[in-house]
Amino acid sequence: MNDLSRGAHPDDNASNTRPSDLFDHIKDRMRRDLGQFADLGGGIMFPKLEGPIGPWMRHEGRDVLVWSLNNYLGLAHHAEVLEADAEAARRHGLASPMGSRMLSGNSDAHEELERRLSTYMGKHSTYLFNYGYQGMVSLIDALTDRNDVIVYDSQSHACIVDGIRITLAGHTAFRHNDMDHLEKRLKKASRMVQGTNGGILVITEGVFGMIGDLGALDRIVELKNRYGARLLVDDAHGFGVMGRTGQGVGEHFDVQDEIDVLFGTFAKAMAGFGAFVTGNEELVRYLKYNMRSQIYAKTLCAAMVEGAHKRLSLLQEGMSLRGDLFRIVDLLQSGLRSRGLDLGQTQSPVTPVYLSGTPRMGADLVMRLREGPGIFISAVTYPAVEKGVVLLRIMPTAQHTESDVGLTLKALDEVLSEEEYALCVQRDPAVV
Ligand SMILES: Cc1ncc(COP(=O)(O)O)c(C=O)c1O
Repeated sequence: MNDLSRGAHPDDNASNTRPSDLFDHIKDRMRRDLGQFADLGGGIMFPKLEGPIGPWMRHEGRDVLVWSLNNYLGLAHHAEVLEADAEAARRHGLASPMGSRMLSGNSDAHEELERRLSTYMGKHSTYLFNYGYQGMVSLIDALTDRNDVIVYDSQSHACIVDGIRITLAGHTAFRHNDMDHLEKRLKKASRMVQGTNGGILVITEGVFGMIGDLGALDRIVELKNRYGARLLVDDAHGFGVMGRTGQGVGEHFDVQDEIDVLFGTFAKAMAGFGAFVTGNEELVRYLKYNMRSQIYAKTLCAAMVEGAHKRLSLLQEGMSLRGDLFRIVDLLQSGLRSRGLDLGQTQSPVTPVYLSGTPRMGADLVMRLREGPGIFISAVTYPAVEKGVVLLRIMPTAQHTESDVGLTLKALDEVLSEEEYALCVQRDPAVV
């Protein structure tokens, strides 16, 4: 590197400057982070769930009770959804429309879905994304430039972190949901933008998808107004689920109007794919001309857009589905808590059970639950959560029944009462 910076060319001394092999580096990296779990065996990584999506599916040739899917309202295999998807795919195939939205990939159905989403979310304008993750990355990139500063929750989803990685804006994280720390960071950001004349963007999640607590939007709104910042909320897990009508956590806290930029995905409560951003007219107009992931990539396909129309109608009529969901959530969470299990601060269907232990203990626990009582739950370990934590992440849906909850609590009683797990139920408060 130093030689190059002094003007030497690699050809000057080819044998000495031959770089190490990139593939040797990836071999090293494979031993770290998620790659270290590749050899766990037992179908733990990349498991195959088969059959209609619902609480009971097939895994490795047997029926299992599944608590791992974000199919909150049970729409994935809903008869009307299946019918709408099949009919739309029959008429359009999966290729249509071709090209990016701006050049050749627009349709009345896309625009109508945006109007309907705006009405449902209580916002003025909406813009569809072909994929949620890339949409968020590109949204952050489009919203900010080198003069701006982003202040974001330290437990933000990877798509937010990646968006922050690619924008040229400055950034500073605040401790998860810690409002005193957010205020400190806002003060710091205010100083940072003094010389640049830039703006401040606060980013948080509505429902934190890994641990189920809610971004403190009521207090964040107050702070962002006090410091003249704008607020972007990723409510992937709250959209369709939280709030009286399913608008999300903004509705739950009665601050929907104060969220400047609101992101939702079709991949969870709507059980489809694609996503959207909603906000004021000027913002959405700007994004249509500036979001690289939408300008330089293919549009959301017509079949998915038509399927999303059907799903949105079900969300709008979704009081009883949300009622079913929260009945199961209450039953499950109160059952787990009454066993002394630690569910952290969850206030949503996302149900984390905190255990302390090694990733291998987490994998072993998951295997025992699958192979014994046939309960399919995912465990989350480092790097998705802090080192030393094994999180059983249980995702209830509107389709689960009281008897499913009973079976699962019994299974956890059996597996966790074995000595080694009894030890790890006691979470060290210092760990998380
Ligand atoms: C908080 C959050 N934001 C964004 C995404 C990405 O959404 P999609 O699956 O639509 O790409 C996810 C998905 O896991 C998520 O949990």
